[in-house]
Amino acid sequence: MEYQKIVWKNDLDTGIQLIDSQHREFIRLVNNLLDSTVKSEDAQSLLKAFSFLRYYISDHFSVEESAMIAYGYPFYSMHKNIHDSFREEINGMEMKLRSNLPAHDVVIKLNYMIVNWFMHHIKVEDRKLCNYLEMQAQKRQESIGGRLEQIVSVFFKVRESV
Ligand SMILES: [Fe+2]
Repeated sequence: MEYQKIVWKNDLDTGIQLIDSQHREFIRLVNNLLDSTVKSEDAQSLLKAFSFLRYYISDHFSVEESAMIAYGYPFYSMHKNIHDSFREEINGMEMKLRSNLPAHDVVIKLNYMIVNWFMHHIKVEDRKLCNYLEMQAQKRQESIGGRLEQIVSVFFKVRESV
């Protein structure tokens, strides 16, 4: 099985701590999933790990999207469309896992997408967004960290209570 372990490099940092820590956590979850797949863990636990990853990334995207709305980001629809297509891809992968497609095929595809697409998204679109957010927060003299904490607490609390 060929896959590329994903390594975090500093050029992936956007400068907004909370967003960076969610990106890192997502990469950690993907790497764990790769390890579990290589070790051929049972289908049920792979599916569980995949499901968690799907929720995690979708919530993370929602946090970014809420921040875009809160600060009137001019490229909201473009960025949101990119997130939506990634959400769809991940949903499709989960469905494949559920229909017992070989887990390693699905996970290799996920790995490929992260390396060739997600990392690029972080470096280009997320960085552009984070620069904008920092600038707007400064103008309003508020802390971007504090604002994001508020947004996150809403999303991740709702998820925990489901
Ligand atoms: Fe994004």
